[in-house]
Amino acid sequence: MVSRPCPKGGEFIIETVSETGPSPSAIEILFVDHGTGLKEEDKKYLFSPFFTTKLRGTGLGLAICRKIISERHKGKIYVESEEGKGDDCQSRTPSASPSRSLSGVMGPMSTPTILVVDDEPNSLFAICSF
Ligand SMILES: Nc1ncnc2c1ncn2[C@@H]1O[C@H](COP(=O)(O)OP(=O)(O)OP(=O)(O)O)[C@@H](O)[C@H]1O
Ligand SMILES: [Mg+2]
Repeated sequence: MVSRPCPKGGEFIIETVSETGPSPSAIEILFVDHGTGLKEEDKKYLFSPFFTTKLRGTGLGLAICRKIISERHKGKIYVESEEGKGDDCQSRTPSASPSRSLSGVMGPMSTPTILVVDDEPNSLFAICSF
């Protein structure tokens, strides 16, 4: 688990959970923020393409995340949120088989690279400082 202060207060936490054992079947990633949370009436639109409450948002962030996680990785993504308290966003994806795992592709000494794409400076600042 890693946590960083958010620029406007509160914390942003990323936690990964992997089932233990020789061949874990799933990997979970949990993103927790202590931001504004979601309004009750907005929750049902959260993953809909082009739903945004931002002045310059595309509303594509979560729709794309869900598409990648569910279609590419056969996983699931959930959000729990309380207005004024923040959000928990959790993804659960099946583990890759050993032949597709990073160590198989990159060799034992390589370090995996994570590509972070976000057009929000505050989010990038928080994520890239991990
Ligand atoms: N962590 C969060 N806390 C509060 N509201 C959120 C959070 N994440 C998403 N939302 C709400 O869901 C909406 C859709 O989010 P999504 O990431 O799909 O697009 P966006 O952030 O609005 O636009 P863009 O992807 O272009 O930055 C946001 O506009 C916001 O209202
Ligand atoms: Mg977004």
